Amino acid sequence: MPEKRFNVAVAGATGAVGNQMISSLEERNFPVRSLKLLASSRSIGRTLKFRGDEIPVQELQKDSFKGVDIALFSAGGGTSTHFSPFAAKDGCVVIDNSSAWRMDPDIPLVVPEVNPHAVSGYKRKGIIANPNCSTIQMVVALNPVHREFRIKRIVVSTYQSVSGTGKKAIDELFDQTRAMINFLDYKREIYPHRIAFNCLPHIDVFLENGYTKEEMKMVHETRKIMEDDGIAVTATTVRVPVFFGHGESVNIETVEPISPETVREILKKAPGVKVVDDPSRNLYPLAIDAAGQDLTLVGRIRRDESVKNGINMWIVADNIRKGAATNAVQIAEILAKEYL
Ligand code: A2P
Repeated sequence: MPEKRFNVAVAGATGAVGNQMISSLEERNFPVRSLKLLASSRSIGRTLKFRGDEIPVQELQKDSFKGVDIALFSAGGGTSTHFSPFAAKDGCVVIDNSSAWRMDPDIPLVVPEVNPHAVSGYKRKGIIANPNCSTIQMVVALNPVHREFRIKRIVVSTYQSVSGTGKKAIDELFDQTRAMINFLDYKREIYPHRIAFNCLPHIDVFLENGYTKEEMKMVHETRKIMEDDGIAVTATTVRVPVFFGHGESVNIETVEPISPETVREILKKAPGVKVVDDPSRNLYPLAIDAAGQDLTLVGRIRRDESVKNGINMWIVADNIRKGAATNAVQIAEILAKEYL
């Protein structure tokens, strides 16, 4: 029987994640019959390459999804809130990278290595949410440990690259760095403070409880994906002057006794994980190694000597790929193989 092929759309195709969605569809050889590229009216006239063809970018509109089977969205929360229901109404399954739908109890939030079964919930609203980039890489590494030792508390501090904010933030870090090393004045548009040669403990907006929205996403999304509301999570999220790749210092406390050796053994076998942990040779996960590939790198695995059952580790992944585009395409693969 010939392989089933799908009409696919990418909404936000001109953005940092949208661009990678197109590349991930191509790299992973997703069975695309036709590809529709959508963005704002600002991008009319542009073309983007897919499998050697130049595809014109069209304006995202309510009726853009007629005849489309799967739409990958990465065009911001407002755009998604507005347009996803029109897509779903036309029978198109939306995989949305924004935070708009993630905590809706009727919408699955999926990391294929952790809760692939949850994809089936797309039937309720025709939408599947792609989690926050920092949450994805954390649960890929922690879920196998949780299944074995029951994690009761997670304390995470992130070191997040500017590409997570989008294309304009990549330009801002580049322009500010170039201006500063040439002793020129720099411009500040995307971040509230200079990001070049600086770290900002501020990602997304501040909430009433003193945390940022990004920090609370890590709390709520982790529990939803790992399907365990009993896990205590606290996060501090920091923007650092790195272009691609998020780092995370993660401390866990478990119910069962745990050792660095067993964690290393479990993670060596875990899907989507690569253990990089040989301090004697200065080997540990780096953003520059994580960038451009799809594995979540884990290292610096060591005992937290201040508690009974505790482990510290350092987790790094490419936030645009596994943290966004690749995870979305992996969800599409499950949909295509098992549901559509
Ligand atoms: P455009 O390039 O036409 O502005 P990033 O996160 O890298 O900044 O990318 C955001 C993506 O979302 C871009 O592709 C952008 O298109 C798209 N986008 C933003 N606002 C809208 C909108 N109102 N309608 C359609 N696409 C939008």
